[in-house]
Amino acid sequence: MEITPWEVKGEVNYEKLIKEFGLKIIDNEILKSFEKKVKNLHFLLKRKIFFAHRDLDVCLNNDFYLYTGRGPSGPMHIGHIIPFYFTKWLQEEFKTNVYIEITDDEKFLVKTNSYEEIKNFANENILDIAAIGFDRNRTFIFRDTEYIKNIYPLALKIAKKINFNTIKAVFGLKSSNNIGIIFFPSIQMVPCFFEKRYCLIPAAVDQDPYWRLQRDIAEKLGYKKSCQIHGKFLPPLIGLKGKMSTSLPTTAIFLNEDEKSIRNKIYKHAFSGGQPSVELHRKLGGNPDVDVSFQWLYFFFEEDDNKLKKIEEDYRSGKLLTGELKDILIEKIVKFLEKFREERDKAKNYVDDYLYNGKLAQLMWETIFE
Ligand code: TYM
Repeated sequence: MEITPWEVKGEVNYEKLIKEFGLKIIDNEILKSFEKKVKNLHFLLKRKIFFAHRDLDVCLNNDFYLYTGRGPSGPMHIGHIIPFYFTKWLQEEFKTNVYIEITDDEKFLVKTNSYEEIKNFANENILDIAAIGFDRNRTFIFRDTEYIKNIYPLALKIAKKINFNTIKAVFGLKSSNNIGIIFFPSIQMVPCFFEKRYCLIPAAVDQDPYWRLQRDIAEKLGYKKSCQIHGKFLPPLIGLKGKMSTSLPTTAIFLNEDEKSIRNKIYKHAFSGGQPSVELHRKLGGNPDVDVSFQWLYFFFEEDDNKLKKIEEDYRSGKLLTGELKDILIEKIVKFLEKFREERDKAKNYVDDYLYNGKLAQLMWETIFE
């Protein structure tokens, strides 16, 4: 297993990650404190898809804002949007500000794409994020290359506190890496300092190295340590190892994919926990624990616990065949994306509200330049 913000290799062992990264698990105790603060616990919490945290309890007992982001290396896939939907839910429940960083600089530095390509991906990705429906008065989306003037002073202060050896070790960098990526982590840490309140970061666990560093230096700079709530990776279509990858299209379904392509991909590539023949399947039943179609329903596409349970039981008993399970998933994804695209079309009219949210930009500048 190898996990950095730029690469996830092998089977992800979440228990090992908790130990290695020094995280706390989302246990029933913290879920109980959560439950007291919200109307209904989100299914991503109940199912422990958001499985680990740092100082979540501190946030729940104090005032906090939210920070998350996207690196525009291509079209977004259905894994990328999970932390965004969860962040939106947190925003609704806690009526708080959300800052969304678009790290176009990062992706230009780590990918082979041209600057123009990255710029286009950023515009498309911003529309995808706008379609999710964050509160327009409380959300600010910014591109690094555009907002650099405002974040640079703080990035410098951060950079001066971290040496090359630390960056090399934490991010697994080698001498052959370009020099841009050595400085970049200071840019992704800046939004953890946008407000004087606690900062809570919902993301998948691959982003953790940034936050470990931020927590090391925050107090030295006179700020609070950021708090995290970490999600698991929606597994790749072809099996439970690694994460979905934009550069390997058979591992993912993208937000801009049409129904025919979704159907073909799932029929052809979705790893199945079923038996080799119908007779054997009816006799022995399938294994939902390794079946990617079931796992995708569990992770995101079937919110209803009772319906999910029925699917699981029927699959285990052999009543439900692999093809039928795949059909259930395809129908869910197609419906979800149909609705998503309607929202995306509407978002074209108001995406600027997020990009030029004067109130939040003002708040951020005041904290940075004070
Ligand atoms: P990026 O664009 O790689 O990923 C965007 C968000 O999606 C999460 N993610 C996944 N979640 C579930 N299943 C998957 N298979 C999956 N793959 C990726 C990522 O953890 C992330 O939350 N450097 C960042 C951009 C960024 C950021 C942030 C992300 C800047 N500031 C603050 C989170 C929080 C990036 O390239 O993310």
